[in-house]
Amino acid sequence: MDQKLLIELSSDGKNGVRFPACDVEEQKLEDMFPSDYLRKSPPDLPQVSIPEVVRHFVNLSALNHHVDKAMYPLGSCTMKYNPKMNEAVAGMTGFTEIHPLQSPQTVQGALKIYKDVEDFLCAITGMAGFTLQPAAGSHGELTGVMIMRRYHLKKGNQKKIILIPDSAHGTNPASVAIGGYEARQVKSTVEGLVDIEDLKKKLSDEVAGFMLTNPNTVGLFEENVQEISRLIHEVDGLMYMDGANMNALLGIVKTGRAGFDITHLNLHKTFSTPHGGGGPGSGPIGVNEKLLPFLPTPVVREKDGTYFFDWDLPESIGKIHSFWGNYGVILRAWTYIRMLGSEGLKQVSRGAIINANYLKTRLEKVYHLPYTKRPMHECVFSGDRQKAKGARTLDIAKRLLDYGVHAPTVYFPLIVHEALMIEPTETESKASLDYFADVMLKIDQEIDKDPELVTNAPYTTPVSRLDEGKANRELNICWQDMNKGD
Ligand SMILES: Cc1ncc(COP(=O)(O)O)c(C=O)c1O
Repeated sequence: MDQKLLIELSSDGKNGVRFPACDVEEQKLEDMFPSDYLRKSPPDLPQVSIPEVVRHFVNLSALNHHVDKAMYPLGSCTMKYNPKMNEAVAGMTGFTEIHPLQSPQTVQGALKIYKDVEDFLCAITGMAGFTLQPAAGSHGELTGVMIMRRYHLKKGNQKKIILIPDSAHGTNPASVAIGGYEARQVKSTVEGLVDIEDLKKKLSDEVAGFMLTNPNTVGLFEENVQEISRLIHEVDGLMYMDGANMNALLGIVKTGRAGFDITHLNLHKTFSTPHGGGGPGSGPIGVNEKLLPFLPTPVVREKDGTYFFDWDLPESIGKIHSFWGNYGVILRAWTYIRMLGSEGLKQVSRGAIINANYLKTRLEKVYHLPYTKRPMHECVFSGDRQKAKGARTLDIAKRLLDYGVHAPTVYFPLIVHEALMIEPTETESKASLDYFADVMLKIDQEIDKDPELVTNAPYTTPVSRLDEGKANRELNICWQDMNKGD
């Protein structure tokens, strides 16, 4: 971590910028601005050369693990390669230099892309309409819950509860609670699927809907989804699909046909926008025919080749994002979908599934696999055996960093002890999957020989074990304070 700041590299007279000669009449600052607004002395900017600046940022970028550096098998998060073409398109000035408040006539191309993405997502999922406004999967969930509420209010239904499986992503119960419902858990079977008998016990006229992740958070396809959907619809509940894991189903399953009324997708996972660190994201919501009137306003429509915003939706839940959503992410998704086409998208999911199954097969003799069914795009092991030998899942995750691999998701889902949730993604080659599997097996052998080697890891990272609780509670990103050791 002995990286110097640019200001520390600075010395008088060094300069990386040469301005062109001034070609307008020079004016005095004092004539242009009130004197109170003017600096009394020049700002203390670093004086550095171009190579120093380049090296500074290149070295900093290498301190962090990232998906362009090596494998990043973070389960549930889908850290796959994001084609650089997406960035090239998102960086085009024709897109970056428009303003969301420009009149629709002046941004017809941008609106066409917006509408195209909605149409592509309808074709992929079989839903009747989409909104691209939500800024994240969790935001999409909340939008979905708001749509559910509007549906039940209109029908005069007295609903209080939304059912969710015990394996659900933490954002599901949070969205339910923020949306004004009570989240009630449905158990999983020993196979890792929704327990239909437990679901039946929890069904009542108060049930507003069921929020189901498919593939679920242990990476399994919920085979009984049509039966679940029938039961929920019998009490006039709505089926909500958390489609954050849609990267396992592209071209394979149309969620609309599986009985779902609402589906969210994570563009920043399935449709390849780099993510992590809090955004930006995009969590579009798709609905079936009967819920179309409740979609957020405005809806982009096309008539006679002209695109426009339709605000005339009296039953809409209203706006749920400033302007029209995270357009840069939508643009990347458009590029990705257009580049791959329907066959390419199907290959994405097939690749994700075969990669996860390959790792399952390579690791299951050594790492305990609580749910043995064939997984979809990710597989969840338990580190119980290794814990019994002296090193916990957290230690294995830290040791992986020494081998240049990002750790999988750990301790989630909560229903698996010492969980190691591995999502290899479709963009990993057999060679990188083998490297990962070899390293996992080697770490197990290290635990056999010398557990402390693993419990003291990592040794090669810029910082070793951090006090994560303190870092979260007392976030301090000020360099001077860090240097004081505070
Ligand atoms: C299954 C599942 N649901 C919901 C979410 C929430 O998505 P976001 O992080 O975009 O809010 C995630 C995110 O990883 C997820 O994996």
